[in-house]
Amino acid sequence: MPSVAFHTLGCKVNQIETEQIKEDFIVKGYDIVSFQDKADIYIINTCTVTHISDRKSRSIIRRAIRNNPDAVVAAIGCLPQVNADELRKIEGLNIIVGNRDKANIVDIIEDYDEKKNIVMAGNITKNDKLSPVLFSNLHERTRAFIKIQDGCVSYCSYCIVPLTRGPVRSKSPEDVLAELVNLLDLGYKEIVLTGIHTGFYGIDIGNINLLGLLELILSHTNEYKYRLRLSSIEPLEVTDGLISLIKEEDKLCRHLHLPLQSGSNKVLQDMNRRYSREYYYELVLKIAETIPDVAIATDIMVGFPTEDEADFEDTFALIDTLPLTHFHVFKYSPRPATKAYNLKSLVDEKGKNYRSSQLLSLAREKSQIFIKDNLGKTKKLLVERKLDDGSFHGLTDNYLEVNFVAETDQVGDFVTVKLINVDKDNDLITGNLLEIKR
Ligand code: 5AD
Repeated sequence: MPSVAFHTLGCKVNQIETEQIKEDFIVKGYDIVSFQDKADIYIINTCTVTHISDRKSRSIIRRAIRNNPDAVVAAIGCLPQVNADELRKIEGLNIIVGNRDKANIVDIIEDYDEKKNIVMAGNITKNDKLSPVLFSNLHERTRAFIKIQDGCVSYCSYCIVPLTRGPVRSKSPEDVLAELVNLLDLGYKEIVLTGIHTGFYGIDIGNINLLGLLELILSHTNEYKYRLRLSSIEPLEVTDGLISLIKEEDKLCRHLHLPLQSGSNKVLQDMNRRYSREYYYELVLKIAETIPDVAIATDIMVGFPTEDEADFEDTFALIDTLPLTHFHVFKYSPRPATKAYNLKSLVDEKGKNYRSSQLLSLAREKSQIFIKDNLGKTKKLLVERKLDDGSFHGLTDNYLEVNFVAETDQVGDFVTVKLINVDKDNDLITGNLLEIKR
C-alpha cells in the first residue's frame, strides 16, 4: 500500500480535520509515515490567517516536494480556498483542494491522473453539512477534539476566516453526542469542543445553542469519568447561564478563552468587534469572581492599522488590571479581500514588534501570578504522559502543567495532586500525588 505523510498548520479545527482524513487513509489500508520520511503522498493542511501562515504553508509544501520529487503532493484547506492561483505556481504541487472538498481527499488522490493537476476551490455554502467522525482507534494521547461547528459570518475587519470557512454550519446535537460517546468508549478522558466560531453553535439549526448543547451532553454522559473543555468563544457569547454551568458542573473545565484583540474602543470599533473595553472588563471580573481558580485565556492583536500609541496603552492597561492567565499575541497582518486591507497603518513593523514584546512580558507576569495563586492548592490532574526521568506530566482543568512522581503508571488517569513548587523558567509546576482516581 502507498505511504502517506501529513503536516498541519494553524488552528485546532485544522488539526482535527487532518485526524479525520488520516482515519480515512488508515481505513483504506495506507501506511501513515512521518513527514520527514520519503512518502508516496504528502498532504499539507494549510493556514492563511496571517501572511506568516501563508509563508509557512508554502515552505512546508516545498519541503514535501524536496523530500520526494516523485510523490503526489496535495495542499488542502484554507490557503487553496482563497489563493489557489498562487499555489499553482509551485512546481511539483499536484493537488490543490480548498475546504469544501478536502474531506474527500482520499478519493481525489485515488482518482488523480499524473498528467493533469487538480485544483478545486469551490464556494462553501450552508448546504455543506458537517458529518460525524467515528474514530476507530486512539490517534493521540488522552485528549480528543470534536469539531461541533464550522464557518463564521462575523466579518471582523482584519479577518480572512469568513472567506476561507464559509457560513455557519453546526453538527447536529445527536451527531456530537454520538461522536463524544464513541471517544469516551475509546478511553479519552478529556474532550475539547471546538469550531471556527464555537459560540455560534446552533444558529443555523435553531432551538439549540452552545449552552443547550453542553447541558444535553452532560445529561447523557453521567456515568463517564471525563472532562469537557471549551475552545475559544467570543466575549459577547458568554452568558450568565454558561458561567454558572461552569461553576456548578464538575465535568466542565474551569477554563475560558475569550479573544480581546484590543483594549481601545476606537480600535475595537474599527475591527468590527461589537463590544467595548468596559464590557470585556466587567465580563472577565464577573467570571473570575464567580468561578474560583478559573483560567481565562485571550488573543490580542497589536499593530492594527488605526492603533496609535494611546490605543496600545489602553490595551496594555486593560490587560494589566484583569486576571487574565494565558495569552496569544498576534501582530496584525493585512489580508487581501478583508475590510482593513487597504487601511494605511499608523505603526510600522518596528513599532509592532515593540508592542508585541511589551505585551509578551506582561503576559509572562500575569501567567506567573496565576501559577503562584494556585500553589498550595489541591487539584485534579489528567495525566498525559510519562517523562524520561520516570515522573509523570499532566494538565489541570484550569490549564496548569504539572509534573509529579508516582510509583505506578498513571497515564490516562485522573489523580489528585497538591501543587507545591514552580520552575519559573518554564512555568512547570511540581505536585505531590495525593490520590489516584480510576
Ligand atoms: N492578523 C493578525 N492576527 C490575526 N488573527 C486573525 N486575523 C489576523 C490578522 N489579519 C488572530 C486573531 C484571532 C486569532 C485566531 O488570529 O487574534 O483571535
